[in-house]
Amino acid sequence: MCGIVGYLGERDSLPIILNGLKRLEYRGYDSSGVAVYNGSKIVSCKSKGKISKLEKQLQKRKNISGGIGIGHTRWATHGEPNDVNAHPQFSNSKKLCLVHNGIIENYSTIKQKLIKEGFSFDSETDTEVLVNLIEYVKHKKSVKLGEAVQIALNQVIGAYALAVIDNEKPDEIVVAKLGSPLCIGIGEDEHFIGSDVTPFIEYTKNVVYLEDGELAIIRNHKDTFFRKISDNSLISPTINKLELSLDKIEKQGFDHYMLKEIYEQPKAIKDTLRGRLNVSKGIIKMSGMDDYINKFLSAKKITIIACGTSWHSGLVAEYMFEKIARIPVEVEYASEFRYRDPVIESDDIVIAISQSGETADTLAAIKLAKSRGAFVYGICNVVGSSIARESDSGSYTHAGPEIGVASTKAFTTQMTILYMMAVKLSKSKGVISEKLYHKYILEISNIDKKVHTALSSNNVIKKIAKEFLKATNCLYLGRGYNFPIALEGALKLKEISYIHAEGYPAAEMKHGPIALIDENMPTIVIATNKINYDKIVSNIQEIKSRKGKIFAIVSKGDKEVKEVADHVIEVPHSIESITPFITVVPLQLLSYHIAVMLGKDVDQPRNLAKSVTVE
Ligand code: M6R
Repeated sequence: MCGIVGYLGERDSLPIILNGLKRLEYRGYDSSGVAVYNGSKIVSCKSKGKISKLEKQLQKRKNISGGIGIGHTRWATHGEPNDVNAHPQFSNSKKLCLVHNGIIENYSTIKQKLIKEGFSFDSETDTEVLVNLIEYVKHKKSVKLGEAVQIALNQVIGAYALAVIDNEKPDEIVVAKLGSPLCIGIGEDEHFIGSDVTPFIEYTKNVVYLEDGELAIIRNHKDTFFRKISDNSLISPTINKLELSLDKIEKQGFDHYMLKEIYEQPKAIKDTLRGRLNVSKGIIKMSGMDDYINKFLSAKKITIIACGTSWHSGLVAEYMFEKIARIPVEVEYASEFRYRDPVIESDDIVIAISQSGETADTLAAIKLAKSRGAFVYGICNVVGSSIARESDSGSYTHAGPEIGVASTKAFTTQMTILYMMAVKLSKSKGVISEKLYHKYILEISNIDKKVHTALSSNNVIKKIAKEFLKATNCLYLGRGYNFPIALEGALKLKEISYIHAEGYPAAEMKHGPIALIDENMPTIVIATNKINYDKIVSNIQEIKSRKGKIFAIVSKGDKEVKEVADHVIEVPHSIESITPFITVVPLQLLSYHIAVMLGKDVDQPRNLAKSVTVE
């Protein structure tokens, strides 16, 4: 939630900041702003709406350029999206200027205290309170900016990643982090700041990921100091080498990131398998797991924690781990788990799944699980992310940057990791025959090809999408492995087309949802299952006899469902446990085409952000 950018060096900071904000726009896009020291003072420009609106405003301004600046793209928490609440926020003296990602929970108490000290406030934001608290501390204690930030942060409760500049110190940016991500790109005599590394990948490959509770005083042509916020003690940071390249974060001819990412799935799955699956030797090598295999084998149960689409991949994993490896699994929303006083014991395994690796609820749930002695295995896409670092061990999905807010390739690559884990465990536990084990290995090696084939139904899906343009509600049904896919299909439709959709296990329909069925309510049925196929056909009949319209995902060559459904989308045959990888693809494409036809903003749907770093 919210993206922050900063630059300090010899170049003009404005174009670097603007470009960086566009890369971080996925994190929030209801308003944005920049502030630059122009040689005599800090000047800023802010605008409600997307970065393109800010750019238009900036075209009318002449005095905004200079070698030090900060920028922000906002996902509103305190105060509605408007120009006044947009960041950067100035202190009362206009000398300090700050951008912030996170929430200051005790902002109201601090605000009252500052009002009594004579401060006034223009915006409704917690950020304006924070910048004035820093100003208050700076003057009251006669300290420099870095120390003032450190003292002020010891008085706040909440989460933050922030960058602050000072009129009186125009060669310095102070940054700090607790609970929200922040990294520093280190170039030749220049520094970059970003909520992630994308704002500066074309300038430097050297990056420091700030840890929670750390602060950095970045200065031009001088040493940067890294300190602990709690006691101001010095720390030496680790400089990491970036492997990401610019072409990976561009659209490459696709109209939207989401479509590009849907099409990238076969490659993303292959990349996730690379070095891990060896078909000829019959080996699944996952170093993060191999080192701790005994912990996995002695665990009485596995608890999976995640949010949104990642939670859905966890639900699919429940079927995989239980059916293939015979290990009991519980799948929990991280947001519920963290407040539920869950029964977690010291030999429990907790698997945390997150594309971004920054989801606040998942991170908090991990901390809770660790405090109870659980071993946490993280499955993340973003390398070096907070969840990856907080986990005891884990696996990266290697899907490459996912920029569209609707998660697609992250989902299929998460399932790829989870499937390998289940098969690997079944072998280590000795609950699988050699023959079946090798069959699974072969099936895994063919997932990417089947996903590729599933993509070929794009044109059929585009035609079918037209049938949904007047719908206000949709039902998604699936069973077994494909029940979570029904949930995922419904989530994809809701988030980018704003059509209400619900996913249900097909058999649950008669316990309530069937009351909704009429000629205006399309039902999407995943009917590839071999188990319970007849029952799904009966469910379809029940819907048809209530005038409902059926859109069915079927295995190639299916006859029975074809006869009763209004439209069918064929996907390649596969064993039951592999079907989720294949059936989700048409559902992703369907929601994409519906949203495009409805004129929605596919990559940046309203009210959402890619990375949910607030509770
Ligand atoms: O980065 P994470 O995987 O932790 O994110 C979890 C959810 O916020 C995310 O999956 C969200 O539901 C997506 N927008 C769904 O497409």
